[in-house]
Amino acid sequence: MRPVISLEDITKHYQTGKVITEVLKGISFSIHPKEFVAIMGPSGAGKSTLLYILGCLARPSSGRYELDGVDVGTLSDEALSRQRNAKLGFVFQSFHLIPQYSALENVLLPTFYRKDRKRGQKADRRRAKELLDLVGLDARYHYRPGELSGGQKQRVAIARALMNDPEVILADEPTGNLDSRQSEEIVRLLKELNERGRTIILVTHDPDVGSQARRMITIRDGLVKSDTPCS
Ligand SMILES: Nc1ncnc2c1ncn2[C@@H]1O[C@H](COP(=O)(O)OP(=O)(O)O)[C@@H](O)[C@H]1O
Ligand SMILES: [Mg+2]
Repeated sequence: MRPVISLEDITKHYQTGKVITEVLKGISFSIHPKEFVAIMGPSGAGKSTLLYILGCLARPSSGRYELDGVDVGTLSDEALSRQRNAKLGFVFQSFHLIPQYSALENVLLPTFYRKDRKRGQKADRRRAKELLDLVGLDARYHYRPGELSGGQKQRVAIARALMNDPEVILADEPTGNLDSRQSEEIVRLLKELNERGRTIILVTHDPDVGSQARRMITIRDGLVKSDTPCS
């Protein structure tokens, strides 16, 4: 099977004034469809930077990134964002929900950027409700983020990430703002999605969370320090 993600010698540096920080110094790995991978490493290791590159939200300084067989380095910004919307779903530590919108409207957000939106509105609402049911929020369609617990907000964010039926879910410290019970529930949900065939890439500095994945890639000093299956 072809990898869905393939990184070859990816580097990334940031420049602030005259100071250059080399964050990623040559990262290579491949991820196949239906994998559940945790990217681990201490704070400041470059995990978020790597996830932003994987998510086509940032471009590497050098190296080659193929997403679903497409060399994303050759794409225009517009083509890149099309790839992103079609193939990737995002979950962030701080949920990134729009406070004025209901759970349902937040889940519908990714469809607002779609060209054929008008045609599909009814089907979109049906799908958004199904996704909220799937994540266990069937009784909360019309709640706003402020009326939901942290774990529930993250469930809305996960439903939203699934809205465009992406091949890969990218989650950056999705349990970072949750207590341990809510964390466990979110990790269980990600596991279930993986069992249903979704590729999951989970960034975390928490070994208890990371060890729930099926493969663990550890980043240290800008390099892959280890890449092992989880028992
Ligand atoms: N936009 C940026 N400009 C300058 N430095 C940055 C930027 N983003 C991240 N960094 C630096 O890159 C390093 C890695 O950051 P990050 O990828 O957020 O690590 P992690 O997610 O593993 O904690 C840190 O030293 C951070 O300060
Ligand atoms: Mg981070």
